[in-house]
Amino acid sequence: MVAQEEFDPAAMTDEVNEGIGRIREASDLEELKAIKAKYAGTGSALAGSGRIIGRLPADQKKTAGRLAGKLKADFGRAYGLKERQLRQEEESRRLAAEQVDMTLPVNRRPQGARHPLSKLMEDVEDFFVSMGWSIAQGPELEAEWYNFDALNFGPDHPARQMQDTFYVKGSQARDAAGFVGSNMVMRTHTSPDQARSLITRGVPLYVACTGRVFRTDELDATHTPVFHQCEAIAVDEHLTMADLKGTLDKLAVAMFGPEARTRLRPSYFPFTEPSAEMDLWFPDKKGGPGWIEWGGCGMVNPNVLRSAGVDPQRYSGFAFGVGMERTLLLRHDINDMHDLVEGDVRFSQQFEMGE
Ligand code: PHE
Repeated sequence: MVAQEEFDPAAMTDEVNEGIGRIREASDLEELKAIKAKYAGTGSALAGSGRIIGRLPADQKKTAGRLAGKLKADFGRAYGLKERQLRQEEESRRLAAEQVDMTLPVNRRPQGARHPLSKLMEDVEDFFVSMGWSIAQGPELEAEWYNFDALNFGPDHPARQMQDTFYVKGSQARDAAGFVGSNMVMRTHTSPDQARSLITRGVPLYVACTGRVFRTDELDATHTPVFHQCEAIAVDEHLTMADLKGTLDKLAVAMFGPEARTRLRPSYFPFTEPSAEMDLWFPDKKGGPGWIEWGGCGMVNPNVLRSAGVDPQRYSGFAFGVGMERTLLLRHDINDMHDLVEGDVRFSQQFEMGE
């Protein structure tokens, strides 16, 4: 170990200068620390110099000490300089990464999106307007008389029972025309607008009406206690079931494209005679094309015409009602009713695409 203990100014200078060279090239603080450990830490010429110089004869001590001091100072200066520089670089890198560009355009007023149901109802209304029909809108809180009696529901008809109808406690109808005396219900369908339109607009009548209806259904994937219907009623001289079928097919094509068709199955509604369930031919149905129930329809029951003061000998008409949610589910392949009622704007925004 004697060789190591010898004071070799040239070797020490070379080692320290090599270290300083490495310091100048260091690219980060970690590397810099490693260099310091190697060239100034335990085992380095610099670190050992004090001990060796201490043992030198007095005449050599001074020059050796001065050299060692100078090399230590050079190394320290180079190190300090580089350390500062690297710290600064690191700081600017961090700041750059954290930088927020205040000039980027931001959406300060996030825009909502119209609900697909509202848009669908507008499409449906446009369809009727394009045929020259009028659009009506009846009240959601409706006289039982309009919701049931005027539509030829017998007093004991099961649909009046509590399980279907929201009765509104203690309320009495107060119609614009002064009509008082009927209990109020949340309308269970848009059909009361048949009677309202007949009474307020007279014949000939071509009216469509979209709106909310209410039934005491539980909310599940395909039912909600509040849903939307579109009602259509036409009363004129010489209207037949062929007019009904033609109108339905046209609406189906307007909603679902050129392949759409409808078919009627005999059914019963108090306010139409004959009555039918209406199915829609749906080419995109999961598991292959097929018929899907879309609504109810029929020829306006003469009793409904009579309760509105229209002569059934002279006038006839047809009416139909279709579910709007159902139409939307079919049109857009939505599987869960919850999406329609939850009010998440992201759901609605999907329908804004491409507009
Ligand atoms: N109002 C009926 C329903 O809600 C549908 C319907 C409307 C049937 C018009 C015939 C005529 O089920």
